[in-house]
Amino acid sequence: MFNNTQDNQQATPQLKTDNIPAHVAIIMDGNGRWAQKRHLPRIAGHKRGMETVKTITKVASDLGVKVLTLYAFSTENWKRPHDEVSYLMGLPVKFFNDFVPDLVKNNVQVRVMGIKDQLPVQTQKAVNDAIKDTADCTGMILNFALNYGSRLDIRMAVQQIGRQVASGQLDPEQITDQTIDANLMTGFLGNLADPDLLIRTSGEERISNFLLWQIAYSELVFTDVLWPDFDRTVFEQMIMEYQQRDRRFGGIKTSK
Ligand code: FPP
Repeated sequence: MFNNTQDNQQATPQLKTDNIPAHVAIIMDGNGRWAQKRHLPRIAGHKRGMETVKTITKVASDLGVKVLTLYAFSTENWKRPHDEVSYLMGLPVKFFNDFVPDLVKNNVQVRVMGIKDQLPVQTQKAVNDAIKDTADCTGMILNFALNYGSRLDIRMAVQQIGRQVASGQLDPEQITDQTIDANLMTGFLGNLADPDLLIRTSGEERISNFLLWQIAYSELVFTDVLWPDFDRTVFEQMIMEYQQRDRRFGGIKTSK
């Protein structure tokens, strides 16, 4: 039998409160499989996934995360069956109805990036009301990617920059990374636009058109846990994994 010595306990990594990633982005995957495993309709997984969003928002805010970006609906998700899309479009209405008072109490500001004007009118209203109701909150930014696609984001940024060049406002030689940053949908986040940590749940290990420019130096962490089962413990484990990484941004390790 193993003896539970102090040495064993020291081997377990602890969450370091002084190295919390400032911007965490999450690809919330596995709602459908969570439901199917229980012989439930896929939408039951999305419903449960919405509850996980509430839990993780509170945990992230408590831990001192400054920006939490959640991939809630991609520009490709319109290909899903009509009933599922309808349900997903209703979720923000339900979520913000239930949760805005808690967000305000926790000083969390809601932002939404994506093509909002293609959303159903009631979804747009729920989103715009939540943005307005939390506009004065100065704590964590809860940033939903809703009808978002990174290639679309980049294409729109290129078009915007192209217009500035065409009108003579901008010399092409003066286009820098910062010009591109400023024209992407994450531009409003300033120096927090690039996620420090990108998490994907459910065992899939791909990026699925999410923040392609912004994740150039993000730490990527994957878990087999399905999004509806994701909780504080798993989230803290992902952050501990991030804390073990040696971030060099293309440089070399500085000597200790
Ligand atoms: C991916 O799982 C999940 C989505 C496409 C939707 C994510 C939405 C939520 C978690 C709820 C969002 C809540 C708010 C407030 C907007 P999947 O359906 O692709 O799962 P599968 O790969 O197992 O089929």
